[in-house]
Amino acid sequence: MKQENLQAILAKMTPKEKVDQLLQLSADFYTDDAEDRTGPMENLDITEQTIKNAGTILGVSGAQKTIDIQKEYIENNPHHIPTLFMADIIHGFRTIFPIPLALGCTWDIAAVNEMASISAVESAVSGLHLTFSPMLDLVRDPRWGRVLESTGEDPYLNSEYAKAMVQGYQGDDLIADTQKVAACVKHFAAYGGAIGGRDYNTVDVSETTLREKYLPSYQAAIDAGAKIVMTAFNTVEGVPATGNKKLFRQILRDEFKFTGPVISDWGAIYELVNHGVAPDEKEAARLAIEAGVDIEMMTTCYDKHLLTLIEEDSHYMELLDEAVLRILELKNDLGLFENPHRGANVEDEKRLILSDEHRESAQKIAEKSIVLLENKNALPVDKSTKVALIGPKAKTGDLMGAWSWQGKQDEVVTIAQGLLAKSNQVTVSTGDYDLFDNSPESIEDALMLAKANDVVVLALGEADWMSGEAASRSDIKLPASQIALYKAVKDVAKQVVVVIISGRPLDLTDIADADAILQAWFPGTEGGSAIANVLYGDVNPSGRLSMSFPHSVGQVPVYYNTENTGRPYELNPTEKYVSKYLDVSNYAKYPFGFGLSYSNVTYDALELSHQTLKADDTLEVTVTVTNHSERPVIETVQLYVRDLVGITSRPLKELKGFAQVELVGGETKSVTIALPISQLSYVHPDLTWGIEAGECHVMVGPNSRDLILTEAFFIE
Ligand code: NOJ
Repeated sequence: MKQENLQAILAKMTPKEKVDQLLQLSADFYTDDAEDRTGPMENLDITEQTIKNAGTILGVSGAQKTIDIQKEYIENNPHHIPTLFMADIIHGFRTIFPIPLALGCTWDIAAVNEMASISAVESAVSGLHLTFSPMLDLVRDPRWGRVLESTGEDPYLNSEYAKAMVQGYQGDDLIADTQKVAACVKHFAAYGGAIGGRDYNTVDVSETTLREKYLPSYQAAIDAGAKIVMTAFNTVEGVPATGNKKLFRQILRDEFKFTGPVISDWGAIYELVNHGVAPDEKEAARLAIEAGVDIEMMTTCYDKHLLTLIEEDSHYMELLDEAVLRILELKNDLGLFENPHRGANVEDEKRLILSDEHRESAQKIAEKSIVLLENKNALPVDKSTKVALIGPKAKTGDLMGAWSWQGKQDEVVTIAQGLLAKSNQVTVSTGDYDLFDNSPESIEDALMLAKANDVVVLALGEADWMSGEAASRSDIKLPASQIALYKAVKDVAKQVVVVIISGRPLDLTDIADADAILQAWFPGTEGGSAIANVLYGDVNPSGRLSMSFPHSVGQVPVYYNTENTGRPYELNPTEKYVSKYLDVSNYAKYPFGFGLSYSNVTYDALELSHQTLKADDTLEVTVTVTNHSERPVIETVQLYVRDLVGITSRPLKELKGFAQVELVGGETKSVTIALPISQLSYVHPDLTWGIEAGECHVMVGPNSRDLILTEAFFIE
């Protein structure tokens, strides 16, 4: 439909019809079998007619169901405007992929694109038009349960994933390709900075940090064409994001040139009252519409008060028209006026959802996301080795993690199933292990099996409800009963390999003496097969952490790209008055970028294409990598830069590029990574971006800690 036709519809709409377009209601209002609730339920006190006219719907899926609702909706609407179905498809629809933090550990941009693309297909054939993904909040605090939804702590890496996800969900043409869905960037902005890691808590970051660290990933997604942006629950500079004019009108619209609609998070307009920036719902509505929030999710401040605001001041009519037009444009960008059911198709649903091909992709990506944290020659396990599988995560389908709305536990390959399919030398403990308790009989069985077998695979970790939204923890260790189980087994077993299932980096110091630790995250539908392939060496692990693991919660936030202090510990480790803890290291236990494989890969011959460059030049960094093992390996060559002297104190290292290379046994490859010098630009105190002349160091290596090679270059 042409823009002028949208304008014509707008011109015919009554003010009340316009206000209704701004309201988003959940599945509960449209179906008897609403399957998921993603926020608190208020009594909205709205009429039947408002429900019928609310502009968009959250959390309904199913081809037939959405087709029926859409038909009725269009018939009822005086202008035959279609509705738009949105939902949280975060890491897969029914075929569940690893959680986003695990996807972050693949360092495989194409894999993340593929995950988004398959999620889009399954969503679209089920009648969905838009996913509330990607979540691009930079995360540094593993106490926050929502680190699970982020790709990690690095602005550069997060931005690469942001682009890949938007492209994977949306493709190039949302009208022609009805098996794509629109992508929603969230949560604007800086939700990941919640103080103390407590969900929904205040965020207090400087504007330089906000712009340099937190905003780039959102901006990358917007530049990649993401269709909609969601507000964050938190405050930014004291002003709740959902009523924050600077964030939305100035930064998002004027600076980032975003023209699509902004949606509030669930209830966030009403919550302006709880935040204490609005005395009542009417003022909350005023603040939000002034800030440029177009859609109100699951509260009714707009619905109840916008018309009064308009009566008092016609300026609000202009704001309302703007908002409605953006919503109509989004519907139009999806082709809904001409093709209101888009991809919804019962036959496709049967054929494509959870297809073998999708499962295969989920398995392959899960394999890439698993990070080997420790290995004292225990892995890989030979298929003829006698293995005992023990622990609370051994036989469960709880491997999908939060935001697996349509995923079904009985469709998940458990770790036990995965191992049994690989080897006939596996005994699965019959013990009944709970995450927080072990019966005496299960301990007995565990010890008996540990003694009788060569290797114990101990599957430990979190339940799905322990991470995700509203799932912050102050203690990020394994539950005490699991540590006790580990210690008991370790005492008697020949070798103990621990598989960790979790939605966050845990404090793993209690099990650090394990013979091997495999961080498997929540690996998704094919989790058990992927874990088995890695344990038995059919897959050489290649995952690298995208978020640091602390030694203890007291170090949090611990992240790799820190600035120097005036009293750096490294300059004088024996001095008292330096920046350090008395009782723990300054560094992560397992740092950003870290992950082992079954191969020994060495780095040599770092070469730079130039010694001196201008700000608009590109430096080429070349290094040679050699696989000294016989098995093929995927090596992630990481390039970090330090700008020695800046106007603000610069990080000691910042990831500025990487390359993933496959090396067959014994192979040596030369790898070149391009580094546009413009990438070293950073935010100055006056909030402009810039880079000055001076010396920089390039560092290359397998992770952010073990940077084996360093060379200097100069910007003139
Ligand atoms: C609240 C969450 O913060 C957000 O990420 C999600 O998209 C909405 N609920 C809708 O479910």
